[in-house]
Amino acid sequence: MADLTITRGRLIELLNEDLSREYQAIIAYVVYSQVLKGAEYMNIAGELEKHAAQELKHALIISNQIDYLGGMPTVVPKRVRTSEKPEEMLRFDLEAENETVRNYRERVRKCELLGEYAIAEHIREILVNEQEHRIDLATALGEDVPDVTQPEERASAARSVAALIGLGLFAVEGLCELRRHRAPVSRLGRPTRVRRRRRRPRGRTGRPTPHSSPGGRPGGC
Ligand SMILES: [Fe+2]
Ligand SMILES: [Fe+2]
Repeated sequence: MADLTITRGRLIELLNEDLSREYQAIIAYVVYSQVLKGAEYMNIAGELEKHAAQELKHALIISNQIDYLGGMPTVVPKRVRTSEKPEEMLRFDLEAENETVRNYRERVRKCELLGEYAIAEHIREILVNEQEHRIDLATALGEDVPDVTQPEERASAARSVAALIGLGLFAVEGLCELRRHRAPVSRLGRPTRVRRRRRRPRGRTGRPTPHSSPGGRPGGC
């Protein structure tokens, strides 16, 4: 069951973890983009350089939000794994990005629980970038982008959909009930009188007489 409680203090701690992860990503991309060797990795090396610049922007955004919440941004990065093998470097990056996306998704929910919708919006924008990083890395490794959705995220989404369907059915039922029990009303909200058509008197031939219409005009309506 997902934890539905959060305080501003706890959010500051969590955002500081995110900031450490952003520092880790900056260092990893700065180094990996320069040491990747081999013609087949030149394209992705160029992409990693771009990632490094984007991770710096993310770090600045998160740092700014921590300051807004009254906290002190951390100066400590998470540990950066290194390798001589290009494929291993890319895999480390992909794993780190997966972890980042999982955490930011959770962060969006926590920010919204606290009513901090603007911070949630900033994190959503960062998430768009992180998702692109995952796509770049998975493509370079020749694999599909891993699914990082947590079981509780799926359960929560299913509950929201079920609640919406239930609400819709309840509304439709209510409308039907209302229609069954309510007399027709005019636009002004007053009950309308149902007009009955007056039958015209008929002559011997069975045809309507010339002056039998209510206005006295032949064939009037
Ligand atoms: Fe980032
Ligand atoms: Fe990233």
